Amino acid sequence: MSLSTITEKLLRQGHGLLAADESLQTIHKRFAALGIEQTEENRRAWRDLLVTTPNISEFISGVILYEETLEQLTDENIRIPEFLTQVGIEVGIKVDQGTKPFSGHSPELITEGLDKLNERLTRYHDLGATFAKWRAVYMISSTTPSDVTLIENARLLARYALACQEAGLVPIVEPEVLMDGDHDVATCSQVTEKVLHHVFENLHLYHVAPENILLKPSMILPGKNIKLRPTPEATAHSTLNILRRCVPVAVPGICFLSGGQSETDATANLNAMKQISPNPPWKLSFSYARALQNSAMKAWGGHPKNKQLAQTIFSNRAKLNSLASQGLYKPSMEI
Ligand code: G3H
Repeated sequence: MSLSTITEKLLRQGHGLLAADESLQTIHKRFAALGIEQTEENRRAWRDLLVTTPNISEFISGVILYEETLEQLTDENIRIPEFLTQVGIEVGIKVDQGTKPFSGHSPELITEGLDKLNERLTRYHDLGATFAKWRAVYMISSTTPSDVTLIENARLLARYALACQEAGLVPIVEPEVLMDGDHDVATCSQVTEKVLHHVFENLHLYHVAPENILLKPSMILPGKNIKLRPTPEATAHSTLNILRRCVPVAVPGICFLSGGQSETDATANLNAMKQISPNPPWKLSFSYARALQNSAMKAWGGHPKNKQLAQTIFSNRAKLNSLASQGLYKPSMEI
């Protein structure tokens, strides 16, 4: 399948992405918080629950998986990627290998994963993946992000993206400006603008085709310690302003991460962007993990008897985000 066909499928109207690619450490942290046993079987059962939710392909066009899920089976003994393909959902794969302390630049983190990337991409492609994800993180403080972090993360994202395009996978480029801290909206705007300029400059330098990537940015928000939260309309304005300054119109789509926002905030903010700008230069949608999964995981609690209830909750959340991606969501739709 050509890269442009993959992006078209991922960006079809009223659809977004589910990020179900938490590393072992991250998913175990989520399980632990809910008293769910941290086992391989529970990771499989949770991901089976998400992908086999009835009619989820009405709202979700792609699911980003963690490596182990590529070889895991649904309850009906079908390989999870195969099942997704059968129901018309594209298979994505997290190819970075997580963030590590950035030596000499503590407390900043740098993303690892270029080692043997080409071979891994070929294998993922053979296992059914059509797109990939790499996440870089940026901390906001009086001394961060440092220039070196801006330069190095942008270079890594560009090398990863080029490798994906050469291997026939659409790269999701994810520069996440973290919400941790007590910074204001103006600071988040300045930092995000700098981050995105570095990223697109490097994508250009490394000859990555902007037509065949998806951008997965964070929204422009104050640090999470700031009590007074902006309205969805204010967030939409700040976010769109920065994206218009930095993202070439050749990029087909921007699928936001949720970054620790509540489920309802993430939905309302996306909706406000589509209402304020019904025809933006790029398709706008979602690629959420926590903002799609939190309530459903809580309802499941690791118990097979709760599978159907959790699927109903997940399906409803996906539907509300589908509506938000079209500017059709209303808070009164929340149950
Ligand atoms: O890498 C992060 C995920 O893809 C998005 O997760 O929506 O919980 O921020 P989140």
